[in-house]
Parts: sequence; structure tokens; C-alpha cells
Amino acid sequence: MTEKTVTGIQGLDELVGGGIPKGRAVLVIGGPGVGKTIFAAQFLYKGIKDHNENGIFVSLDESKEHFFDEMQQFGWDFRKAEGDMKFALIDATRISRVAMLKEKLYKEETKSLQGKQLSIEKLVEEIQAKIQMVKAKRVVVDTLAALFYRFPDPVERRSAVVDLIESLSDLPVTSIITTELGHLGLERSAVEEEYLVHGVIMMQTLFSGGTTTRAIQVEKMRGAKVNPNLVPYSIDRNGIEVYQNMPLFGEK
Ligand SMILES: Nc1ncnc2c1ncn2[C@@H]1O[C@H](COP(=O)(O)OP(=O)(O)O)[C@@H](O)[C@H]1O
Ligand SMILES: [Mg+2]
Repeated sequence: MTEKTVTGIQGLDELVGGGIPKGRAVLVIGGPGVGKTIFAAQFLYKGIKDHNENGIFVSLDESKEHFFDEMQQFGWDFRKAEGDMKFALIDATRISRVAMLKEKLYKEETKSLQGKQLSIEKLVEEIQAKIQMVKAKRVVVDTLAALFYRFPDPVERRSAVVDLIESLSDLPVTSIITTELGHLGLERSAVEEEYLVHGVIMMQTLFSGGTTTRAIQVEKMRGAKVNPNLVPYSIDRNGIEVYQNMPLFGEK
């Protein structure tokens, strides 16, 4: 049987037969505001607190201070975890920006992708270094959607995403990678990152009869017996909770 990593997201572990496969990469897909960052942070924080598994958060779209402040409202003290050498945040927004700048400067002399490829390579090196530094067992990349603005060319983008996901899969950590739908301008079935990962979890907001509800679905999880149904989840002061036995539009 595959060894499991307990996510620490109430109710989700039951959906996926006890946890996500250890050492693998799982993609969390959803539009803005569905709770992807909270999901990913909860996975890391519960790992640190409840499972003695340290974590790395790779931020592609928000600053460290902003992340720390946002997560404090759930009682997740990432600043302290960082101080205790149990957590590290990589601000990859900066790395990408520097790479972009370089790219512009060198554009005259070279038409190669070098600058951008280098930025992903460097990022992976930094992730590896930080994994060693805090002896991390869990890694989050939030969010691939940010890369899509930095790599407007679909071919470059694809190679960046493939490199990043494959590098993460090779590392001895369990990873959550978040992404958004729609940035490719493709149909739902054609999101290519899905083929590169071990599992796919979809988060969305549904509307029916004037009511909205948050719903989550495990679309794919190799090597696990999953509940494939769309089930409700909530976000409150304790973070995310999944209710696998509740109806989607029932009263809570
Ligand atoms: N303390 C809270 N209680 C309830 N909902 C919250 C709380 N904090 C944030 N949210 C909700 O979480 C969502 C944002 O989560 P976030 O993880 O940043 O989304 P994403 O990363 O998918 O854009 C918003 O819809 C917001 O309403
Ligand atoms: Mg986010």
C-alpha cells in the first residue's frame, strides 16, 4: 500500500482514503478566492504542528509579509515556525521579476529562453537548499497561475511548468501545487499540468437557486481509493473543512 501524507484538512483526508500519496505532487485547481492559498498553508502548518513534518512555501504571487499576516488570522504562526527553523518561504515573485528584467536586457543579443529557464532552474536549486535547511517533508508552490503572466509564450510556459512540476516530483517531499483554470484559454479537460501530477483536487464556487456553496472534488488520485463526488467545504477561522456526507445545497 502507498504510504500516505495526512493533509490536515479536516474531512479531505477521508475523501482520499487517509491522505495524499507520500512523496508525490498534487495539483489544487480553482479560481481566485476559492481558498487555494489557505488550503496550501493549512497543509504546511498542520504538517509542522501535528506531524512533525517541516515545510516550504514557494510564493509566486504574494509577498512574505502579506502571507504571514493573512495566515495569522487562522492562528497559524508561520513567523514563529520560520524562527524555529521548521518553515521557510521562498519569495519567487522577485526571482521571476529579475529574470524578466535580464531577459529584456539581453533580448538584443540572444533570442534564447536562457534567462527564463535559468529562473526556474535557480528556483528549483533554492527549493532544494531550503528543503535541506529546514529538513522539509512538504512543499507548496502557490500559484502556477502567476507563471502564466511571466511566460506569455505557450511553449516557454509549458516548459517552465513541466520543469517545475517534474523537479518537485523528483524531490523527497510531498507537494501541493496550486493553479487556476482559464489562464490557458483551454477547455477544462485540456489543462496540461494535470497529466504531470499524481493527483488533482478541484475547488469551486457553485450557484443554485440564489444560493452559493463552496464545493471540492478529488478528480484524480493515483493509488488511492477516493470519494469522487463533489462535496461541500467551508472556510472559517479554523481554515478549511470538507464535509463529505453533507448535501451540496443543504442547510448547514
Ligand atoms: N477568516 C475567514 N473566514 C472565512 N472566510 C475567509 C477567511 N479568510 C479568508 N476567507 C475567504 O478565503 C478566500 C480567499 O482564500 P485564498 O486562499 O486567498 O484564495 P485563493 O488563493 O484561491 O485566491 C476568500 O473567498 C475569503 O472570503
Ligand atoms: Mg492565492
